Amino acid sequence: MTDQTHDRLLIIDFGSQVTQLIARRLRELNVYCEIHPYQNVTEAFLREMQPRAVILSGGPDSVTRPGSPRAPEALFTMGLPILGICYGQQVMMQQLGGLVQGGKISGGGGTAEFGRAFVTPTTALPLLDGWFEAGDEQVWMSHGDHVSKLAPGFEVYGTSPNAPYAITADTTRNFYAVQFHPEVHHTPKGAKLYENFVRLAGFAGDWTMGAYREKMIEAIRDQVGDRKVICALSGGVDSSVAAILIHEAIGDNLTCVFVDHGLLRKNEAEEVVGMFRDNYNLKLIHADESDLFLGELDGVSDPETKRKIIGRLFIDVFQKYADQVEGAEFLAQGTLYPDVIESVSFSGGPSVTIKSHHNVGGLPEKMGLKLVEPLRELFKDEVRALGRELGLPPSFIGRHPFPGPGLAIRCPGEITRPKLEILREADAVYIDQIRKHGLYDDIWQAFVAILPVRTVGVMGDGRTYDYACALRAVTSVDGMTADYYPFTHDFLGETATRIINEVPGINRVTYDITSKPPGTIEWE
Ligand code: XMP
Repeated sequence: MTDQTHDRLLIIDFGSQVTQLIARRLRELNVYCEIHPYQNVTEAFLREMQPRAVILSGGPDSVTRPGSPRAPEALFTMGLPILGICYGQQVMMQQLGGLVQGGKISGGGGTAEFGRAFVTPTTALPLLDGWFEAGDEQVWMSHGDHVSKLAPGFEVYGTSPNAPYAITADTTRNFYAVQFHPEVHHTPKGAKLYENFVRLAGFAGDWTMGAYREKMIEAIRDQVGDRKVICALSGGVDSSVAAILIHEAIGDNLTCVFVDHGLLRKNEAEEVVGMFRDNYNLKLIHADESDLFLGELDGVSDPETKRKIIGRLFIDVFQKYADQVEGAEFLAQGTLYPDVIESVSFSGGPSVTIKSHHNVGGLPEKMGLKLVEPLRELFKDEVRALGRELGLPPSFIGRHPFPGPGLAIRCPGEITRPKLEILREADAVYIDQIRKHGLYDDIWQAFVAILPVRTVGVMGDGRTYDYACALRAVTSVDGMTADYYPFTHDFLGETATRIINEVPGINRVTYDITSKPPGTIEWE
């Protein structure tokens, strides 16, 4: 258990696709919450965590199935406010003495419901303050089963055509159960419902980034004492924020290593190193290992082989420099909350590897280091907020993500220094265009890929035979799915002209209009 200084809310995860959104909504209300899979939540766990309130998430199972997930019985006798959502509602009804039926039972009044629905109020309820001011409210339903008999003590407060028990509550015990998903965007008043719930549960709403910063500085000092920490700095937001926070806590006992693999963007190494040296006075090793990386990549064109080589060399190089920091016992990593949530998997079986992601995951075991992960409780946008709190420049915080293997995976086919140079220049022009047109912050990620083909062109009176490149720009929330960005034709035309005029070596520009899936964001 991590934060014992703030009131905690426990989200018991029954495997819904949108459980993380519940946590997002609560964090927006400055409420500290943790998601735990139902298998881990025992009575002992509850007594140790001492949550102030509990939310039961949705899930894909059916409570009518023998052996389906349940909450520990003790939960309902601890005097805690509880909110059950969808499957969570059905768990509450089933365990508290009501009845749930499968929606598809023939002749049984099937009430499966997926998508938009409208809820009509019956009686006023504090959980619904701010609702129904202009009539029925839209909600998002996604359920096969339905509650057919309420548990003793519960009353109905809202109904929808297919869910007579859309909103129910036992106000004496502060138990609430809704059939729909208030956490999703398509339930427009959902955030208000959560706000009401945490108010009824007595949360102070005082979990702010300022408080988090103070708490983490204390926690890092407690963990590390006067021992030494090393940190692989990539120039991305996560590792940068982690490094600055740890630096605030332990000063010169932190050494950062910035590995320059020769696959960075134009001026990137100078900018990152300059920012940390000038603004933060951090101990920073700038490891220029471009000859090593580019040497080993020479002649390699298979994407997975490239990734594996870079991953292996990165670990070797980092280890070499870390060995120079005498007595280092800890490795700092910018691990985020979505990476650590132990999600409930009903599919089983290993998923297919699309790409071997580059990270420093194998390092701690190999080097016998303990981990310091001060961002483990945060979502990406919270890391950005913490970065602002720590004084990182806004331009740095808003930077597009950049993959660990860098330009290697934006250079399909063989990687050569001249091709990398052309790619850097073209990328710089493209990003400059995007910034000039005020589009940078609307785009999740934008970059150029240099293609392994040369094409014929005509410039002035002469024939050219140069590389073609592809522009990529996508919108996304988390990088898992993405849409191509709908630039205007004027923008694309102007950008193509600038790249061809300003970047020797390129005579043809294309725009990639593939979404993800079926494409991926990077080309390799
Ligand atoms: P794909 O290409 O898989 O990329 O759609 C999704 C997001 O992940 C980034 N990416 C990486 N990030 N190490 C990273 O740190 C990697 O090996 C890596 N490969 C892809 C990519 O830039 C996009 O934001």
